[in-house]
Amino acid sequence: MDFFELIQRRRSTRLFTSQPVEEQKLQAILEAANRAPSAGNLQAYEIYLVTDLARLHHLAEAALDQDFIAQAPLALVFCANPARSSKKYGRRSASLYCLQDATIACAFAHLAAAALDLASVWVGAFDDDRVRRAIGVGDSLLPVAILPVGYPGEKPPPASRRSLSGLVH
Ligand SMILES: Cc1cc2nc3c(=O)[nH]c(=O)nc-3n(C[C@H](O)[C@H](O)[C@H](O)COP(=O)(O)O)c2cc1C
Repeated sequence: MDFFELIQRRRSTRLFTSQPVEEQKLQAILEAANRAPSAGNLQAYEIYLVTDLARLHHLAEAALDQDFIAQAPLALVFCANPARSSKKYGRRSASLYCLQDATIACAFAHLAAAALDLASVWVGAFDDDRVRRAIGVGDSLLPVAILPVGYPGEKPPPASRRSLSGLVH
């Protein structure tokens, strides 16, 4: 698929079928995330793969009961790892670069899922501590995004956007 066609076709999709995601497709998504740029190439983030149904339910609860998370066969949780980059770049990296690293990696994964005709949606509304508990990590990591991934059970229309004339200065 052409890159610009992919950009046009990507949607936030919040309804999943029960069809599992093939291992090959999952690997392709993770490889895509791993190709994302990062500050100093330090990749100051971690990805948690969640497939266990009970954990998916805990994630959904942690995310203000966004139940569609538990309908997906898997979710990827992107966490910033401040310690990984702050050794080299100090405070700016602890408060910014690691968040950007995790964010870009999740964006790559979101696009890769779309390229494979899979559905996903960026979930950012959640309680940090409850997400940490759901994936079993301590407070050295900061959850940045949950990305449930599966086969689409809906085809949402494109969401509106600001006009470029209002956005570009
Ligand atoms: C930082 C961020 C946080 C988001 N959090 C949520 C969320 O918690 N739940 C949700 O359903 N969608 C969430 N979204 C998805 C947006 O609602 C969606 O991207 C937006 O409505 C535009 O739709 P589109 O992605 O289909 O173009 C989030 C997106 C971003 C980038």
